[in-house]
Amino acid sequence: MNLTDNCGRPLLNLRISITQRCNNRCAYCHKEGEVQRANRSAELMSVGEIVRMAKIAVSLGIARIKLTGGEPLMRRDLPEIVSGISAIAGLRDLSLTTNGLLLGGGMAKKLRECGLKRVNISLPSLNPETYHKLTGGKLEAALEGVKAAIEAGFCPVKLNMVVLKDVNSSDVPDLIEYAGRNNIVLQLIELDPVNVGDEYYTEHHRSLDEQEAMLKAKAVTVEKRPYMHNRLIYHLPNATVEVVKPIENTDFCMHCTRMRITSDGKLKPCLMRNDNLTDILVPIREGASDEELKKLFVKANFLREPYNKQ
Ligand code: 5AD
Ligand code: SF4
Repeated sequence: MNLTDNCGRPLLNLRISITQRCNNRCAYCHKEGEVQRANRSAELMSVGEIVRMAKIAVSLGIARIKLTGGEPLMRRDLPEIVSGISAIAGLRDLSLTTNGLLLGGGMAKKLRECGLKRVNISLPSLNPETYHKLTGGKLEAALEGVKAAIEAGFCPVKLNMVVLKDVNSSDVPDLIEYAGRNNIVLQLIELDPVNVGDEYYTEHHRSLDEQEAMLKAKAVTVEKRPYMHNRLIYHLPNATVEVVKPIENTDFCMHCTRMRITSDGKLKPCLMRNDNLTDILVPIREGASDEELKKLFVKANFLREPYNKQ
């Protein structure tokens, strides 16, 4: 049994942001739509609090959880968080979004052993200069992270590429080739305006229509993900490419099955909004029972609604 919102959309996925800190500073970062705190290290949720929230979620039929940030690997206790969540009966998928910089040196393997199933690695370019200009980080370290993720056996490893006009859009063919060669999935993501300045957005946002036309022409088969925004997956002869087009897309929003938890412990029904949050951390700290916490999820679920409406 799943919770369903007023528009009939089931609640199947949870994205938990475990920190606002990051060792990159990507120009395009939406920061998971969170209001940024002055002190990014303050008020972290503890391992126990995060695992308790995840347990309540799973008891309500949310079987897929993604850890995100900021950069989740900035937390040293990430392996404990992963162990705690992966042990929850009924959970079907536990994944992580990361910039990959800290996945090397045995960390990917360790997370795999703790029960992490999949990773998405942000990789906006294969050109060292472009990568550095966009993220502030070193491409080499990110690629080492990708390699470590593959070697650790995560399946699938996915690459997240936010496509930006005049910055990295010409790198798309390189990334397709790289993903294909390494047997990993590439996600092309349309730039979202959240937490990105108006000027930057206007300058660099373009629809992914051009890339999609190219993929369509090359695809052997095309698959739709009905419980993931109706996203399309293009199976090319040598690569698999998923396209994420959220902007002004009513179909995307109608097929959204997500809830989020912010790094300061608030249930967040939509990436795009901060006017309908429900605090769950304070009630936990004040001794709320599981039943009371479930009610908070149910309340937040009824606040879910498509941002782009038909
Ligand atoms: N628009 C779209 N996607 C974004 N991401 C980060 N910022 C944006 C944005 N403004 C993606 C990154 C990262 C994931 C968490 O979200 O690719 O991997
Ligand atoms: Fe944001 Fe990810 Fe870039 Fe960090 S690596 S700044 S969290 S997009």
